[in-house]
Amino acid sequence: MTSTATRPRGARARAAIAAKTLRTDRWWFQPLITVIGLGAWVSYATVRVFMHKWYWVGDFHYLTPFYSPCVTDRCVEGSAHVGTYLPSWWIIPDAAFTLPFLLLFRLTCYYYRKAYYRSFWLSPPACAVPDGHQSYGGETRFPLLGQNLHRYFFYAAAIISIINTYDAVYAFHSPKGFGFGLGNLILIGNVVMLWAYTISCHSCRHIIGGRLKHFSKHPVRYKAWTFISWLNVRHMQLAWITLGTLALTDFYVMALAAGWFPDLRFIN
Ligand code: FES
Repeated sequence: MTSTATRPRGARARAAIAAKTLRTDRWWFQPLITVIGLGAWVSYATVRVFMHKWYWVGDFHYLTPFYSPCVTDRCVEGSAHVGTYLPSWWIIPDAAFTLPFLLLFRLTCYYYRKAYYRSFWLSPPACAVPDGHQSYGGETRFPLLGQNLHRYFFYAAAIISIINTYDAVYAFHSPKGFGFGLGNLILIGNVVMLWAYTISCHSCRHIIGGRLKHFSKHPVRYKAWTFISWLNVRHMQLAWITLGTLALTDFYVMALAAGWFPDLRFIN
């Protein structure tokens, strides 16, 4: 075996074993599932964002999160809650103020980093399996140095969660007055899961409980930190669940807006 002292500069420290890996389990399964899952979600979201239609159900005030807030002058009547500031070029998403920040928040998320580093960049694809690349620069250089901005994207994501919450509450008040249907349940369920994912963020956990010398002097922050730590352990699951709830919410609103089926109404 090559010792650290004699190893050529830049060479990888690996035992002299001819086999690529000695693992005999299906170590490739998880990266494969991740590629399929993330690939499918990104494809669906891209198509929907640039479809520019079927995002608003005027009868029940349902707005899909992919178009919230709607800010181009193409936004259909009633769907723009904060004004229309941008022109309607097809390349501009109707939620152009929020989608870039959401994308950056997810892209720099500690869990998603692990997922796409392993699955798309094979860096490495699994424990005890060689890296797919000759060298490893980590996150110390541009562009991956930008991953450190995650803590700032957290604040943007929190604001966007407030906007999504507003949309979900607003949907209880349709033109006929108070109303409640399956769409409301889906919108509320999505918002609850979005909040769970957002506050389970590692940056949020640090903001709440970091830099404290004595938890005993900050009982409220300690309680909040304990709860966020409990959620934080489930961050990966929440990352996937929210992809599911976002797609489901968007699909349901699209289906109603396109007239594929009616909303299941419980009240009004
Ligand atoms: S670590 Fe995943 S959202 Fe912050």
